[in-house]
Amino acid sequence: MAEFKEAPAGSSPLTQTTVWLENRFPTAFAGYKQHLSEYYAPKNFNFWYFFGSLSLLVLVIQIVTGIFLVMHYKPDAAKAFESVEYIMRDVPWGWLVRYMHSTGASAFFVCVYLHMFRGLIYGSYKKPRELVWIFGCAIFLCLMAEAFMGYLLPWGQMSYWGAQVIINLFAAIPFVGEDLSLLIRGDFVVGDATLNRFFAFHVIAVPLVLLGLVVAHLLALHDVGSNNPDGVEIKAKKDPKTGIPLDGIPFHPYYTVHDIMGVSVFLMLFTAVIFFAPEMGGYFLEYNNFIPADPLKTPAHIAPVWYFTPYYSMLRAVTDDMVNVLAGLTALAGVLAFLKGGFTGIWKWVPLGAAIVGAVLLKTFDAKFWGVVVMGVAVLIMFPLPWLDRSPVRSIRYRPNWNKWLYAVFVINFFVLGYLGIKPPSEIGTLVSQAGTLFYFGFFLLMPWWSRIGEFKAVPDRVTFQPH
Ligand code: HEM
Repeated sequence: MAEFKEAPAGSSPLTQTTVWLENRFPTAFAGYKQHLSEYYAPKNFNFWYFFGSLSLLVLVIQIVTGIFLVMHYKPDAAKAFESVEYIMRDVPWGWLVRYMHSTGASAFFVCVYLHMFRGLIYGSYKKPRELVWIFGCAIFLCLMAEAFMGYLLPWGQMSYWGAQVIINLFAAIPFVGEDLSLLIRGDFVVGDATLNRFFAFHVIAVPLVLLGLVVAHLLALHDVGSNNPDGVEIKAKKDPKTGIPLDGIPFHPYYTVHDIMGVSVFLMLFTAVIFFAPEMGGYFLEYNNFIPADPLKTPAHIAPVWYFTPYYSMLRAVTDDMVNVLAGLTALAGVLAFLKGGFTGIWKWVPLGAAIVGAVLLKTFDAKFWGVVVMGVAVLIMFPLPWLDRSPVRSIRYRPNWNKWLYAVFVINFFVLGYLGIKPPSEIGTLVSQAGTLFYFGFFLLMPWWSRIGEFKAVPDRVTFQPH
């Protein structure tokens, strides 16, 4: 046990209480020092660095509003829709709590997408922050599961049919698909059993995992220290006397105060949506979801909420023709690896053999199944990013100029895919989403090649920073 401290004679009641507490709970005080007052963050953070703390804020908003919603919500297929209407009309401030939660879901994805994009442009996932990134990707997966299951709970037409479509996709998996979708649904059609299990996962199981992952994400980050817009390792230049990084400033009070600005702007926008446009033109709350679920009436057009639509587009892009293109590309990759891959002896044949097996498998199973695979891999492909990126520098600032254009096209492509995923399928839409899907995968799969080429700029020794 640590030595007991004594409060200096004549000290104020506040100091005495602090010393009393520190003697009894030193871990909390050590934690405060390690993660706030003595956590040295680079002094050149820009606005991109607001989105981590904003994601944390939205997480808290979702948990608190969620607790209040559960007090009045009924996870019962016969009562769920009505209970949400009751919350909106009769429960004091119920409308506010519900709109905060529904807007919070979209705000969460806005913050997390921007947060991930920051990681991408500043190469924050590169050594030694690979685990921070991997925990982040796992958080993103959890968030998607959380949002998908939460969307069933209001038991509107879109809740019902959206769940029906997505759960049916699992049935396309060879051999186990039918049983798997039955297991998820808990019945042969989406029904009370589905609602109950989604409720259990949405309110307790997934949030617990999410919270655990967020803690792991932050602990891993604080062990290695934050990256910054220059991608310069601040720990490489420390004050010889104090051992504190020369370009580091204590997180508290500098960034706790700085983050208040991000939080203020965020809350202005967040409340503006809640009070003036909670449905956001049908993008945050779909109009069809104000109609109670009717298993006998399929809506003319079923689309997921905006944050899923880029992936939904990729799913729909996989038609029979697209499978042929993918089989051709797989074979081509195999031949190129055989000829130019640098493998010797027997190993030379491995990529070729793998490509042939891949192409045959692509042609053996249904396009619907490959659509599901493409959608899943579109998210999973982000996990190995730290190893796909072979650039000698982290930040976009010091990469070849054309990289900026490439990242811009990546973002535009993601938006186009998102837009097409909202629209009903069309011939031209399918063609564009197929090209978009190929670009999306090309960006990641060819990264080991393109991230190394071009003219890199000299990375400075210290971070660039103008006091303002
Ligand atoms: C609930 C969701 C999340 C929360 C609450 C969260 C929270 C945070 C916070 C507070 C930071 C430190 C402040 C900052 O750098 O902005 C951070 C850093 C980071 N996060 Fe997240 N995060 C979340 C999701 C994600 C996701 C989905 C990814 C990527 C797939 C990710 C990747 C990173 C990376 C790479 C860093 C280090 C950035 C740097 O040092 O430049 N995070 N996160």
